[in-house]
Amino acid sequence: MTFAPSLENTPPPAPKHVAIIMDGNGRWAKARGLPRFAGHQKGAKAVRAVVEGCQELGIGHLTLYAFSSENWKRPQAEVNDLMGLLRLYLKRELADLHRNNVRMQFIGDFDALQSDIQDLIESAQWKTRGNTALCLTIALNYGSHDEIVEACRKLARAVEAGTLRADAISEDLFRAELQTAGIPDPDLLIRTSGEQRLSNFLLWQAAYSELVFLDTLWPDFTKDHLAAAVREYQRRERRYGAASA
Ligand code: IPE
Ligand code: IPE
Ligand code: MG
Repeated sequence: MTFAPSLENTPPPAPKHVAIIMDGNGRWAKARGLPRFAGHQKGAKAVRAVVEGCQELGIGHLTLYAFSSENWKRPQAEVNDLMGLLRLYLKRELADLHRNNVRMQFIGDFDALQSDIQDLIESAQWKTRGNTALCLTIALNYGSHDEIVEACRKLARAVEAGTLRADAISEDLFRAELQTAGIPDPDLLIRTSGEQRLSNFLLWQAAYSELVFLDTLWPDFTKDHLAAAVREYQRRERRYGAASA
């Protein structure tokens, strides 16, 4: 008699792609009587642990929402602080990320960013392009509406030029025009800070993501929170519209 491994004893697979809306920096600072900058600073530090956590859990893709296309509405001083922290993060962490075989990618509209930040993005992507352990995508001046409209424009131009028939536009063709082309859709999407909305993040890509909302404020987020969210994901049954198994 042979003992075939029972499927029931196999733990559900870890998500291949985790996306995170890192929210709550301002409230974290406010609760301590500190300026919002202190929350953003602590929030930037929390990113390191999450990157490590993903590698430990065997997660292949991590996408972080760092700055939305709507975040320009914040006071100029706060925008400057956020850009300054980003600059610091890219300069300080790149060598370590590269050493840890992390590939860095960015999505968003970079034209509005300062040119030295555009250069840092370019060099981080170039330097880490061959890395294979974790693909870290940072959404920077990103907004799904912008992304979707831009994809429409590209397809419309091809139709206008006569190189594409309107009827030939398919989900796959559309997907290929998004900034996330080549990146699998997120299996698990986490938002911290108790807010329960997507705030213009990965609207197309999150069609069937499992959503986990945590009350924890982003600067307090640790590997343990990540592991707990992954366990919650593993308890869910993904049906994609089909009947329950
Ligand atoms: C997330 O924290 C950081 C960014 C949006 C850049 P917030 O700054 O939104 O923090 P809260 O929501 O005000 O607490
Ligand atoms: C979403 O958080 C953007 C990022 C985390 C970068 P916000 O704090 O900007 O979202 P809203 O305004 O509460 O929806
Ligand atoms: Mg917020």
